[in-house]
Amino acid sequence: MKTILDAIKTIAVSVDALIKEGDLGYSTEHNATGDAQLKLDIAADRVIEESLSALARVRSIISEEKENELILDPKAPYTICYDPLDGSSIVDANFSVGAIFGIYEGEPAGASLVTAAYILFGRHIEMVSVERGNPPMRQRFVHGRWQLMDRKFMLKEKGRHNAPGGTQQYWPPHHKAFVDSLFAEGYRLRYSGGMVPDLHHLIVKGGGIFSYPAASDLPNGKLRQLFEVLPFALIFEAAGGQAIDHHGRRLLELAPRHHHDTTPCFFGSNYEINALKKAYGLAT
Ligand code: AHG
Ligand code: MN
Ligand code: MN
Repeated sequence: MKTILDAIKTIAVSVDALIKEGDLGYSTEHNATGDAQLKLDIAADRVIEESLSALARVRSIISEEKENELILDPKAPYTICYDPLDGSSIVDANFSVGAIFGIYEGEPAGASLVTAAYILFGRHIEMVSVERGNPPMRQRFVHGRWQLMDRKFMLKEKGRHNAPGGTQQYWPPHHKAFVDSLFAEGYRLRYSGGMVPDLHHLIVKGGGIFSYPAASDLPNGKLRQLFEVLPFALIFEAAGGQAIDHHGRRLLELAPRHHHDTTPCFFGSNYEINALKKAYGLAT
């Protein structure tokens, strides 16, 4: 596993250079979800494909930006699913963006996710990774070297921030009531439009909630299970929080039928997730 995480660190440095120097404009292509692809989405995908293809023990790779799975070695154990550039729509505003990786042993699903990592391209490059059963590890690239950050990267019981995704106009009334109830309790809004910086922010601050509900415009939510939702679910649970869907099911129990399937999702510390379950009429 170390080799895959080491490859992801090298990828992080290359993709960071692309973001800083590359062409930020749109291509003429669309991905499997129908999003218009940036030239940067395609360039980052290519860098990652090249780098992961050189590794041993990787059966296949599945990218948010590719229609189909790419089989590398049918006898190898791991499938790596990745979002090469998370936050395509905010890259032009010079906001922080990210990349997300899920390493699955066998058929990709919540139960087979063994390692997850995300890269945050901010003022520094950071990588947060979790090997199932272990606490999260946070590393930062400073002066050309990866340094382990020793501060505990764990959630408290309750946070102060509320990150509600999607378009309010289309939210169901119980979701709107829940979001409003947190603001009425004193929660502050933090939402940049990039799940990597938004979820990273919650963990760094020790709690809060990020939600992307089922809504009338997107009944299955927007965020993709294999590349976005499941890796963050592993990381939030390892950090002492919860990650559930709109039925109160642990996201790590999901198994997508198609590689690009999405799901409504909620990530947070215990207090906020329990409050969400109550507002949604779910068992706590
Ligand atoms: P991507 O750039 O990979 O398509 O992902 C964007 C995602 C995610 O990063 C973010 O949380 C969400 O889209 C924002 O969606 P809304 O603007 O609908 O809230
Ligand atoms: Mn994304
Ligand atoms: Mn993306």
